Amino acid sequence: MPLAETGTLVAEAAAERRAVAAFNIITLEHAEAVVAGAELAGSPVILQISENAVKFRYGRVRPLARAAAEAARAAGVPVALHLDHVKSGDLLRQAADAGFSSVMYDASHLPYGENLAATRAAVRWAHGNGLWIEAELGEVGGKDGAAPLDAHAPGARTDPDEARAFVEAAGVDALAVAIGSAHAMTTRTASLDHGLLARLSVALDVPLVLHGSSGVPHGELTAAVSGGIAKVNIGTALNLAMTGAIREYLAADAGAVDSRTYLSVGRKAMADTVTELIGVLRTGEPVTPPR
Ligand code: G3H
Ligand code: ZN
Repeated sequence: MPLAETGTLVAEAAAERRAVAAFNIITLEHAEAVVAGAELAGSPVILQISENAVKFRYGRVRPLARAAAEAARAAGVPVALHLDHVKSGDLLRQAADAGFSSVMYDASHLPYGENLAATRAAVRWAHGNGLWIEAELGEVGGKDGAAPLDAHAPGARTDPDEARAFVEAAGVDALAVAIGSAHAMTTRTASLDHGLLARLSVALDVPLVLHGSSGVPHGELTAAVSGGIAKVNIGTALNLAMTGAIREYLAADAGAVDSRTYLSVGRKAMADTVTELIGVLRTGEPVTPPR
């Protein structure tokens, strides 16, 4: 089927008070696993490529974006392509031609006024080029290799009044909110501020996005969806699954050489994680994939 659009998937999810899962991909195996896991769950999904993943790919966005787009077109469920955590104007301007229907522009590290000005300019460009755009206010920690925040530390939370003014002035289509999650956590120990989420949900009329969802316990994820989160970003959980499975495989077979053997188990572990997490978002209960 043709590539789906992020804006449509998120709007449909928000209208039904559910969330669409958005998984960060780094390799073709990630893309294939996300598609396979979403097909098994029977749910739409978003494949997202971060600026950091582009840096890993020698700074070139198109090879992985094109491969992901082909995997998406071959899928049996709607799949959209999103460019994530973009700081570079140069990368932003490559988004439309590379097949993305949406972008997350991240100037959240800047003071409020500078974040607003930079985001406004990005929105002008994105809307002028037919792209749906997400931004961030407050700051979800643990980006760019920085140590993940202590899950119980307040961090730089999003203020509801400031967020309303920001969304109106910048004209973004969705807002990533800092409510207690942190990027790159390898344990599910974050605790979310559900009271703050409730206030943000009332204050804002755009869909809300949760980042750093790998560190959020399953029950907290479903509560966040009930509380108004419509897009859930997940990255580290895939890498934990892939690396763990490959480590186990190679430890058991020191003579393994063909990379397809261990990449297969890594890809299957990621696909299982995708199916489970989509199940968590949908019903509160993980869907157990067949072995
Ligand atoms: O934008 C990407 C996500 O926020 C991923 O965060 O790797 O902690 O799941 P995570
Ligand atoms: Zn993020």
